[in-house]
Amino acid sequence: MIDQDILIVGGGLAGLAAALYSDPRLKVAVVSKVHPLRSHSVAAQGGINAALGNNPDGKDDSWERHAFDTIKGSDYLADQDVAELMCHKAIPTIYELEYLGVPFSRFPGGVIAQRPFGGAGFPRTCYAADRTGLVILHTLFEQSIKRQVKFHNEWLVTKLVVEDGKILGVIVFDLAAGQVMPVKARAVIFATGGYGRVYLKTTNAYINHGSGIGIAYRAGIPLKDMEFVQFHPTSLYPKNILITEGARGEGGYLINNKGKRFMADYAPSAMELAPRDIVSRAIQTEIARGNGFEGQFVHLDLRHLGEAKIKKRLPGIREICIDFAGLDPAAAPIPIQPAQHYSMGGIDVNGKCESCIEGFYAAGECACVSVHGANRLGGNSLLETVIFGRIAGEEASKYVQASEGKEGEKILLDEALEVKRRIESWQNKDSGTKVHLLLNKLKVVMSEKVGIFRNKKDLSEALEQIRTLREDYKQVFVSGKCLRYSQELVNILEFDSMLDLAEVITLGALNREETRGSHFRLDHKDRDDRNWLKHTLVTYKDGKPLISYKEVLIDKYKPEARKY
Ligand code: FUM
Repeated sequence: MIDQDILIVGGGLAGLAAALYSDPRLKVAVVSKVHPLRSHSVAAQGGINAALGNNPDGKDDSWERHAFDTIKGSDYLADQDVAELMCHKAIPTIYELEYLGVPFSRFPGGVIAQRPFGGAGFPRTCYAADRTGLVILHTLFEQSIKRQVKFHNEWLVTKLVVEDGKILGVIVFDLAAGQVMPVKARAVIFATGGYGRVYLKTTNAYINHGSGIGIAYRAGIPLKDMEFVQFHPTSLYPKNILITEGARGEGGYLINNKGKRFMADYAPSAMELAPRDIVSRAIQTEIARGNGFEGQFVHLDLRHLGEAKIKKRLPGIREICIDFAGLDPAAAPIPIQPAQHYSMGGIDVNGKCESCIEGFYAAGECACVSVHGANRLGGNSLLETVIFGRIAGEEASKYVQASEGKEGEKILLDEALEVKRRIESWQNKDSGTKVHLLLNKLKVVMSEKVGIFRNKKDLSEALEQIRTLREDYKQVFVSGKCLRYSQELVNILEFDSMLDLAEVITLGALNREETRGSHFRLDHKDRDDRNWLKHTLVTYKDGKPLISYKEVLIDKYKPEARKY
């Protein structure tokens, strides 16, 4: 049986940072369901935040201002100690990335370039044109190869194995071999990313089913603040490919069908660079009022930036527009609409990335350290992945060195057998329900009833429909009998988690009778600090979601009205 000191699940930025900063004397391996360079971090475009003060308009910036903007942006639901930790570490982290080889864009004179991003008091987003995630991912991957980190690519983790509150390992499905296997580990770090594909319109890749979050939930670890779902304001219509906030950071305008820069009505000071929750709602409102085009989208206009600037700062966006919309943004406005982009919630962990299970850690989008609260600022997610990925690797290393290993082979083998039997039960059926039909239904329910604007009726109906889909799921079967690279089987395995996540998101949203950050209740339009300044926790108990709440850590900044 494969036996590791630290097993990292996920080969994106958080996973690679965890691997790179784990103690090199330990046996460390990364398991990823795709090749690491195909992880969704590769799609991050606009940048990574740190108060370097390199932009002439950012001379007075400081990590404290970054922390304040992050906390205000979170609608005061971020835990302030961890938000401060992240913003403080941001500056040395950028220089460390530069030292490792990340080719950041530069200002004349050679310093790392920084552009404005939404909700930020100063221009503090460092970038590599509009391919920032790609270059950081490639750099960390190269460094991992140099460090001789072991990679197991195209392995899907299906289960966490825990005994007496302590981690024993995981059960994987090797996609190429079509086989189930136990993997023993003294510590496990999940860096499995987000769940965007639970929604119909999303900027996320097809791999983003969120099953890591669901697996942790089924192992008894609470999920935190899952009702806070980020909708990015600008995805290309109708494909929903991300059009970076950097396009507005470089000066792009949002225009409705009256030719008006409508953000003046919603965020008169920040305009297009208000935080994402506010801009997404503004766009959706304009479309609903009949001020959109074809009832579906508004325009992101970059024409005034000029061809040279677009080619230099936004070359990827230009290519996406040419390839997927048949237009050059230097000559025509870009049709855009909001789409699901990011999960503020996730596996409940503390600032050391520790969970309630000994030896189990989580970092990156799958985790909720509580740095983003109810709304994340653009440019803070790449930062979170690198900082908390590293912390997870360091903390797991300390844990492994200080703890005694457990036996547990027999339990792991039994658990693997159980997963194998489950798969066989789907494989042995000759008829039943095709999982993609259920997947499509779930996406429609989530998009129509648990979207940007929410209300009690829709959320209650969504919950009922999700529970009906859970019943329908009992009838699924694998129609193609070969299990090697069976996307159908992967979907069946992951759909279980997707149903759990949909239920937890919807339940949290239904219970939270207020509006905060990305969670906008049409029937409770105000923020309610008296009753709702608290984190939601949902725990899987006796086959059901159990909801509870916990305090937000507020040590410096008292909640104020959020104006931009
Ligand atoms: O718009 C973007 O480039 C996305 C950045 C982010 O999600 O942080």
